[in-house]
Amino acid sequence: MNTASFPRVRLTQAPTPLEFLPNITRLLQGPNVYIKRDDNTGLALGGNKTRKLEFLIGDALAKGATHIVTQGATQSNHVRQTIAAANKFGLKSTVLLEERVSGAHADYYNNGNVLLDQILGAQIETRPAGLDMNNELVAVGERLKSAGEAPYLIPGGGSNAIGALGYVVSAQEIIAQSNDLGLRVDHVVHATGSTGTQAGLVVGFQGANSGIPVLGISVRAARDKQEDNVRKLARQTWELLKIRGKLPDETVQANSDYVGGGYGVPTDGMLEAVQLLARTEGILLDPVYSGKGFAGLLDLIRKGHFHPGQNIVFVHTGGAVGLFGYRSVLAPQAAF
Ligand SMILES: Cc1ncc(COP(=O)(O)O)c(C=O)c1O
Repeated sequence: MNTASFPRVRLTQAPTPLEFLPNITRLLQGPNVYIKRDDNTGLALGGNKTRKLEFLIGDALAKGATHIVTQGATQSNHVRQTIAAANKFGLKSTVLLEERVSGAHADYYNNGNVLLDQILGAQIETRPAGLDMNNELVAVGERLKSAGEAPYLIPGGGSNAIGALGYVVSAQEIIAQSNDLGLRVDHVVHATGSTGTQAGLVVGFQGANSGIPVLGISVRAARDKQEDNVRKLARQTWELLKIRGKLPDETVQANSDYVGGGYGVPTDGMLEAVQLLARTEGILLDPVYSGKGFAGLLDLIRKGHFHPGQNIVFVHTGGAVGLFGYRSVLAPQAAF
């Protein structure tokens, strides 16, 4: 399993820390809980997209691109980080923001990631919910081609096999760090959305025969659909890396019990998770992804799904910038 033959730029402040959470572990009296700090990857306030963008921007530059085009929800962390990466390598960018969450507070549409997108300076276009955003991406690409640009299209979340290589690398990093610490990792848990993170982790752990299982906590799709989508991308990533044999189906496991009312819609569990980790360990989750992911982990621990003595690694995929879009929910009473 060799990622070295793929074009790549360096964006990640790696290795990101693998830390023990003593207060959460004591409080829950279940397994030992560790956190992989991929919120600290660097690149315009960090998050999981930094790792994917190393390979995506590398590929774009290798193909002679002049202009990056991507899409995401209004508060997309992926969009924010993609603009930053494009800027760093002198590429222009056009981003499509889909109004996937309706009826939110004004902060949702103008603060958080949207504010940073504006500071970073991409061409921003909005789209109503319900369109095929891949078609929209292709149409913008065609328009840019007619204008003499060489566009490079990055799918939502940077989730194709090239982007997923970033999480193959992250899995290798977790294996190396846990070996150094003498830590047996019994389970990795994280928030799963557009699937690239989970696909990369699964391929990285399985390709290294580590035996480390991964559980994705879905933030949008129902379990079967999420598992199918992750499996499809994991297989493509497996093939891209020319790993021998077949990726076993059962390596892809998702849980969609913590989605609540839908993508980006706050849940009580998310609110509790965000506050609990902030108030016990001083670590900030986000309202759309890692908050729901950690809410899932908390609930599963409380239900006895993991056992005392086991070591669980939660991959913090970043996104705290999104908190600023959710002030009305997180802190409904003004401080002053
Ligand atoms: C903060 C954060 N966590 C998790 C995810 C989910 O990762 P993936 O889209 O690779 O499944 C995203 C993706 O947008 C994200 O922004």
